[in-house]
Amino acid sequence: MEWKVTQESLPQLAVDGVVVLHTEGGKTVREDARAVDEVLDFRISRLIADGEITGKYGEITLLHTWDKIPAKRVFVLGMGKEKELDVDRLRNGLAAVARKAVERGLKHLGIALPESLAEGKNASDLVQAAVEGVELGAYTYEGYKEENKEASLSTVFLSLSGLSPSGADAGLVRGRVFARATNLARTWVNEPANLLTPAALAERAADVAKRHGLEVEILDENRLEEMNMGALLAVSRGSENPPRMIVLSYIGAPESKEVLGLVGKGITFDSGGIQVKPAKSMNRMKEDMAGAAAVIAAMEGIGSLKPHSNVVAVVPTCENLVDGRGFRPGDVIRSFSGKTIEIENTDAEGRLILADALAYARRLGATRLVDVATLTGAVVVALGREVTGLMTNDASWGEEVKISARLAGERVWELPLVQEYEEWLRSSVADLRNHGGISEAGAIQGAMFLKQFVGETPWVHLDIAGTTYSRKARGIHSEGGTGVGVRTLIQLAIRFAGH
Ligand code: BES
Ligand code: ZN
Ligand code: ZN
Repeated sequence: MEWKVTQESLPQLAVDGVVVLHTEGGKTVREDARAVDEVLDFRISRLIADGEITGKYGEITLLHTWDKIPAKRVFVLGMGKEKELDVDRLRNGLAAVARKAVERGLKHLGIALPESLAEGKNASDLVQAAVEGVELGAYTYEGYKEENKEASLSTVFLSLSGLSPSGADAGLVRGRVFARATNLARTWVNEPANLLTPAALAERAADVAKRHGLEVEILDENRLEEMNMGALLAVSRGSENPPRMIVLSYIGAPESKEVLGLVGKGITFDSGGIQVKPAKSMNRMKEDMAGAAAVIAAMEGIGSLKPHSNVVAVVPTCENLVDGRGFRPGDVIRSFSGKTIEIENTDAEGRLILADALAYARRLGATRLVDVATLTGAVVVALGREVTGLMTNDASWGEEVKISARLAGERVWELPLVQEYEEWLRSSVADLRNHGGISEAGAIQGAMFLKQFVGETPWVHLDIAGTTYSRKARGIHSEGGTGVGVRTLIQLAIRFAGH
């Protein structure tokens, strides 16, 4: 998709459709739409006066222009009440319009960001949100159907009468990078597990590294054996597809010792292992690598924006299948950290591979950590599908991640780490066990286990089991993978530049 910033007004644009914004309660259209309204003999105003167009947030009204302007269609997008208008609404609203435009086969779209919208807001943020909205809303997963894929938008004109051009440029660059990285993660999450194996995921990561000149190291099974990554190896043993530990490094501040460590759970399929999941719960388990996808895709964004910070991404990836060679409940394994772990449940595999990855990220010099993982069904019960669970051992680092999430338009909510629950993880035969054997506070239990592998390093755990996929297309989300976490992590790496 190509973007063109223009000072031309909407009626002049040679496009298939134009988008105007309308706020609730406004008697007439906003200034950007007035020119369009005028050439349409004030039809938009009349529809508003008659109550057909209300401006309620999310309302999209499609009008034809009967050759009065080059664009054949006008989308009037309801933005809700003026005082509730923010960048999240802009992003989601434009995403919904973009999706409609793609469904109708439109190729060229014109959008006006009106001057009044910019009041008290930063031009760069507005443009970033608008660009993200359109790119995220226009996303479709191609899949493997024989028939031709849906056509997509090819050019979008952004008409910016009242916004500063330099701010607009910065927003355009960021918006494009944030959205495209998110879409990349979505595609990987949507890929089937027979095609996106651990080795294939490692190849995608290597492609990212090549595109942006990042350092890449991919540890294969032999290397993992040599390095005693016993937890990752134990989980992977039941699969014919060998595991990988993927490491991508971006050095943007060579003079600094601070390194942001990003760790993502990359289970390409989770059957539960010998303690196999019920059939229904297994259906979406190709998505159990969404944390890995978020981290690798964030490196794509970081590699293109090149912030003044150092970032190392560590992604453990394997399959959790059922096989005679697989690990069993009661097994004791030795993790990379040296700590031994008794297996209480083979379905609590994510925390095992993350244990090795977190310890390895610290070995590689990470001074602050964030892990992203589809870790527990319990977090879905606690927070549902709109909010990611956040847990941390360091309140100010937690705050930093929360701020990044807010700026990125992603919702997180903190759950506490509860010291008393740590005793559930005690084992009589090993240093730890991977589950307490009771179902209470499942999301926190998972985090308490991970905490054993981060030492004193400030660390945030994001449990994205609920937010990783969307049942239906709505706002910025298409059906399927959401790419959750990607924009938060890129934003965090940009903010980390101050360290
Ligand atoms: N991959 C699952 C968690 C999950 C659940 C992700 C639902 C997405 C949607 C994880 O490996 C798992 O199986 N967790 C178990 C832990 C339990 C056995 C301690 C769970 O949540 O049931
Ligand atoms: Zn599992
Ligand atoms: Zn899992």
